[in-house]
Amino acid sequence: MDLTRRNFVAAAAASPFILSATGALANMANGPVLKVAVIGCGGRGTGAMFNAISAGKTSGCTIEVIALADLFPDRANNANQALAENGMKAVPADRVFTGFDAYKKACATDCDFVILATPPGFRSIHFKEATAKGKHVFCEKPVAVDGPGVRRFLEAAAVSRSKKLKVVAGTQRRHETCYIDSVGRIAKGDIGRVVAGRVYWNMGSLWNVAPDATKSEVENQVRNWLYHTWLSGDHIVEQHVHQLDVMQWVMGGHPELVRGVGGRQVRTDTTLFGNINDHFGLEFQFPGDRFVFSMCRQQDGTDGKVEEMFIGTDGVARMQSGFAELTGAKPWKFSGKQVDPYTQEHIDLQNAIIKDIALNEAEQVAHSTLCAIMGRMSAYSGKDVTWEQALNDNEVLMPEVVEFGARPQAPVAMPGKTRV
Ligand SMILES: NC(=O)c1ccc[n+]([C@@H]2O[C@H](COP(=O)([O-])OP(=O)(O)OC[C@H]3O[C@@H](n4cnc5c(N)ncnc54)[C@H](O)[C@@H]3O)[C@@H](O)[C@H]2O)c1
Repeated sequence: MDLTRRNFVAAAAASPFILSATGALANMANGPVLKVAVIGCGGRGTGAMFNAISAGKTSGCTIEVIALADLFPDRANNANQALAENGMKAVPADRVFTGFDAYKKACATDCDFVILATPPGFRSIHFKEATAKGKHVFCEKPVAVDGPGVRRFLEAAAVSRSKKLKVVAGTQRRHETCYIDSVGRIAKGDIGRVVAGRVYWNMGSLWNVAPDATKSEVENQVRNWLYHTWLSGDHIVEQHVHQLDVMQWVMGGHPELVRGVGGRQVRTDTTLFGNINDHFGLEFQFPGDRFVFSMCRQQDGTDGKVEEMFIGTDGVARMQSGFAELTGAKPWKFSGKQVDPYTQEHIDLQNAIIKDIALNEAEQVAHSTLCAIMGRMSAYSGKDVTWEQALNDNEVLMPEVVEFGARPQAPVAMPGKTRV
């Protein structure tokens, strides 16, 4: 793939049609064609596919979905049907891949970029394959569920950087104008030295899929993946990673240590809710005696709050999706316009690919993921956990090879007994 601005413009000058480096004929009127393969065709994979297509209108390229890959045929077919129902060309049957090796087949196509949107446990394996095959990546968060997965992802991130591949992560606040503006102001010193923060994702329950006795334990757990730590990392990793990402962005790096509590009081039925917790409360310690308190819960009937707040020596910053304000020495409230961040992240990725702009968020999202994993480790075990401990941890939750069959459910964590 070498669809740089330079050779695109040179080719465009020579002919009204250009042949992209991947061999696709692109009509100048519609800009270059970028071919995409979607790996993990569920809610987000399908959503990201349409976000990418609509982002093309702004970035000036035509997005062609050339392959769909999912573990299950029903999910891949749903995504294909959604394409057809929205007036787009359906993917031919010989490019709809299913099974545990579907990602390999998708990465072996002549796509320019892949969308990775399976349950998080598989991500580092899929990302490694995509970078090995030289693909640009839109990579949903989180990117791993355990230390070995984060290390695998980081190794692949280094490969992707050395190949100058573009990687955008699904931590969409990084592409949301109100966040970009407010974090920029904080970095300039508008609230003074940031000494503390509070970050929350508190909400009710999410979907679940009851086990089907005719299916294997692995299939049942993958279909109900939110509730199994080997697949989702627990909700602190799967969901609260967004706030922990903002925390690391504002604090200018990763925490040294975390001390946390957590448990399950409401979702106690292991048949429906696997082994994950329904609440966490954590204190992250940063260099220079700075602290961020983090809370996340999924319990019906409780107050919701999805927000990040940072306290500086001269003021306070508060951010939510679509909202940001600073109070104190330099008060400010976001009043600008912003594009839906789920579309903006694809506009940014496509611009980076077409114009050969350096953009690689792989390491950043791996660090945010590790931050969430260390929080989970502390709450599960009841021990203080350092960044290095989490990064070098050798507990493998997600094996490199998974097959359908038996997989006894992992136990619910018990502080004082669960190991770090
Ligand atoms: N950025 C955001 O705001 C946001 C929002 C929702 C979800 N997500 C993330 O997107 C990812 C997917 O979430 P979702 O809500 O779409 O879940 P989903 O269950 O709707 O979709 C996951 C899909 O992956 C498929 N799959 C499972 N294992 C696979 C494998 N080994 N190979 C290929 N396909 C496999 C499943 O069959 C399913 O179709 C998760 O990481 C989630 O955290 C991000």
